[in-house]
Amino acid sequence: MLSIDLTGKHALVAGVADDVGLGFAIAKALAEAGATVSIAGWPPALGIFKTLLARGKFDESMQLASGGKFELAHVYALDAEFDKMEDVPAELRDSRRYRDNGDFTISGLAAQVAAAGPIDIVVHSLANGSEVKKPMLETSRKGYLSAVSASAYSMVSMVQHFGPVMRPNGAFVSLTYMASERVIPGYGGGMSSAKAALESDTRTLAFEAGRKWGHRVNVISAGAYASRAASAIGFIDQMVDYAKRNAPLTEAITAREVGTTAAFLCSPLASGITGATVFVDKGMNAMGIAVDREGANA
Ligand SMILES: NC(=O)c1ccc[n+]([C@@H]2O[C@H](COP(=O)([O-])OP(=O)(O)OC[C@H]3O[C@@H](n4cnc5c(N)ncnc54)[C@H](O)[C@@H]3O)[C@@H](O)[C@H]2O)c1
Repeated sequence: MLSIDLTGKHALVAGVADDVGLGFAIAKALAEAGATVSIAGWPPALGIFKTLLARGKFDESMQLASGGKFELAHVYALDAEFDKMEDVPAELRDSRRYRDNGDFTISGLAAQVAAAGPIDIVVHSLANGSEVKKPMLETSRKGYLSAVSASAYSMVSMVQHFGPVMRPNGAFVSLTYMASERVIPGYGGGMSSAKAALESDTRTLAFEAGRKWGHRVNVISAGAYASRAASAIGFIDQMVDYAKRNAPLTEAITAREVGTTAAFLCSPLASGITGATVFVDKGMNAMGIAVDREGANA
């Protein structure tokens, strides 16, 4: 039987702050496939995550199908808006949620991960845009650039910093959304632009990292899912409902479906796939017209 076997592989999933988000589901799927998994969380959300983890609040979600429990090798801090400590404003560095986290920049994280042992898989499951609720016509330059910095350049920087320390033939995966190529009113503040950049960069990074280290770089375009970040944007329930009424497959996507696709893309079974945008959205991206309108032929 063909199976996804990541035994002996070490993975880092960046962008985990609870047991609901896509990052957690990806981390769990990688562990189910046999990988040793570490995570990195954003300092403002990391304290509460560590407390809940220590109190056993995630125990149920950390149960593996095999019967064992999913154990995290390391929990690191990461603010993906920064590449090195010199770039971090002093007031942020010294603030309550950041000051005890060591070097939480992308270069600092790569150095800590490399010092802890070999690394084969790096997942970027994070995004942020300070003006996400604003339409593009009202988005400031600062807001737009913050979305692209946190949500797209962060992936470029992660490949730059992790590429050299990963074992050859490593795998990177990030997460995008269809708003990169189709208009999704409400997904604003330059977030759609950031996702378009992320998908384009995936192709260029795949070429450069493939030639340089043999690493693969892919991006999963996930369908609407009510994570904490998506719920904060404000209309996720409508998007999930819309997809159920209009996608070729009418069940809402699950985080596990995204997780298992990521595990496949990071496995030797996907050794021929790089530079790809892989849709895990029940086919929503294939539709050119809504079918839930009066008189529609669905
Ligand atoms: N939920 C959806 O409908 C959906 C659809 C398509 C793509 N995605 C993408 O999936 C990825 C994961 O999002 P999610 O929906 O699971 O939500 P989530 O809230 O679980 O994950 C987003 C994570 O990003 C972290 N983060 C924010 N700013 C950061 C920074 N500067 N540095 C480091 N971490 C930071 C947050 O703490 C959080 O853990 C994102 O890239 C998102 O755009 C989500």
